[in-house]
Amino acid sequence: MTHLPDGVKLTWLGHATFLLEAQGKRVLIDPWLRGNPACPDDLKDPGPVDVVLITHAHNDHMQDIMDVVSSGEPAVVCIVELGDWLEGKKGVKNVVAMNKGGTTEVAGFKIHMTDAKHSSSFNDDDGSVIYGGEPAGFVIELETGFKLYHAGDTSVFGDMALIKKLLAPDIALLPIGDFYTMGPRSAAEAVRLLGVKTVVPMHFGTFPLLPGTPDELRKEADDVSGLEVVDLKPGEAIGG
Ligand code: NI
Ligand code: MN
Repeated sequence: MTHLPDGVKLTWLGHATFLLEAQGKRVLIDPWLRGNPACPDDLKDPGPVDVVLITHAHNDHMQDIMDVVSSGEPAVVCIVELGDWLEGKKGVKNVVAMNKGGTTEVAGFKIHMTDAKHSSSFNDDDGSVIYGGEPAGFVIELETGFKLYHAGDTSVFGDMALIKKLLAPDIALLPIGDFYTMGPRSAAEAVRLLGVKTVVPMHFGTFPLLPGTPDELRKEADDVSGLEVVDLKPGEAIGG
């Protein structure tokens, strides 16, 4: 039952928001905090972080980005179109505006940007809809070679087999809520395609539209030998 290597801690802040602490650095994935009904009050301000990863431009994945970059100057890794907007329109510094298939090294982590099947847009202050580039996922590779995959918002897709082949993640954070993303049955297929034995379900239960549960994923994936579905509550962590 080894979830994470020694000295690595992963805290679920609710929905798709996670804080990864490793190699003396703090990585915040999909900053949705103040407006996130699942995020415990005492975790809504994560403090200074070294890296922020944004999978896509929907509000429930980046609403608090300006607050987060105001306390410190983290590297902000996201897809090109969103990065250009953050840098050009909002004055965010240290933007790493990359694209899918690429790898960048940030704060000692290798960050691989993967595909995701979803959409990505947001409303500017005046209400107009802005295209946010394509949605993505990330594989975060530690110095030890350990790899954590955050799928972002996505349906299951066959090329998850390529993520297995090329990156072979050790742990996967997968959406299971249904409606906006895959639900438990599809997530079980994602588990098979990715070949992972440790899964942390996310993007469920935040509001009534996201009914998928970790128990349902366990049932759907009961053919996968040795699979551990890590059923965290928001605010809980694994590793340390
Ligand atoms: Ni989304
Ligand atoms: Mn979402």
